[in-house]
Amino acid sequence: MAFPTHRLRRLRRTEKVRAMVRQAHLELNDLVMPLIVRPGQRVSRPIVSMPGQAQMSVDFAVEECLELESLGIPAILLFGIPEYKDERGSSAWSEDDVIPTAIRAIRQKCPDLIIMTDVCLCEYTSHGHCGLLREVNGEMVVDNDSTLECLSKIAVVHAQAGADVIAPSDMMDGRIGAIRKALDASGFAQVILLSYAAKYASSFYGPFRQAAESAPKFGDRRTYQMDYHNSDEAIREIRLDLEEGADMVMVKPALAYLDVIQRVKQTFPVPLACYSVSGEYSMLKAAAQQGWLDERTCVVEALTGMKRAGADIIITYFAKDVAEWVRQIPSLCPRE
Ligand code: PBG
Repeated sequence: MAFPTHRLRRLRRTEKVRAMVRQAHLELNDLVMPLIVRPGQRVSRPIVSMPGQAQMSVDFAVEECLELESLGIPAILLFGIPEYKDERGSSAWSEDDVIPTAIRAIRQKCPDLIIMTDVCLCEYTSHGHCGLLREVNGEMVVDNDSTLECLSKIAVVHAQAGADVIAPSDMMDGRIGAIRKALDASGFAQVILLSYAAKYASSFYGPFRQAAESAPKFGDRRTYQMDYHNSDEAIREIRLDLEEGADMVMVKPALAYLDVIQRVKQTFPVPLACYSVSGEYSMLKAAAQQGWLDERTCVVEALTGMKRAGADIIITYFAKDVAEWVRQIPSLCPRE
């Protein structure tokens, strides 16, 4: 009987050797923590479908940011729940909206934290769609071009308040070009644009829509978000967004779309983010709570898989947990 000539197990023999040949690394530097901010004071409302997450008022969000910064998390992504909703989502571009207010307050206490903001209409419109509605032949459709103006106004208000990164998540065509133009014209050429470029119509957003009170009141988002059967389309979306001026691009969700992450990274040499969405968080949390999965090792394994696929940046509700775990068990994320 012939013995194998190639022995892959040699490089797996000790932890030191394994660490030396390791390729993908999860680092706290790459993590972004999403925060959902709501009006009020001293309010922290737990999100039932996302155990461990809460909607919080601005004062609590500031405290959370101080803690995140001290744990080594470099960035947050802000979502807002407004005081009121209307057909046009007009509270979104008010300077007194919860997001500009939060940006100013956080900036004051955390001058170096990277503040990213989600730019979209769905949390602000009474109908819950990501754009303005228009009737065409008796049918309500989400109108592309009139929505661009609203998104541009929101982006400028966020930039004025002090956001470092504007992240449009609406999936209208041409929004990156429109927003870039508006930012530049208002003196915000330095503000970074992170495009939710390949954002799929996904059922994994379910828990978030409950969290952000942003589910569409009729229909669904499939006329603007991408069909999950496709990956060529992701390449087209990203190419256009880069041409229109995106500085960084995103694939969303992450776990069921690792092939898309890999393909995008191999096609475009630009910083790539992936968004490990609410449903990915909830399913890992739920299994961990049942005692069916080991939370820490499974989460680190899943997030490392996103890095291995090609993501440079990971937006994850586990960001804070990972930073805390690393303090207790440095070997979880050995480079930190
Ligand atoms: C807003 C938006 C959504 C998410 C991020 N921005 C919801 C949606 O498109 O319905 C999802 C985030 C998550 O599930 O964690 N358009």
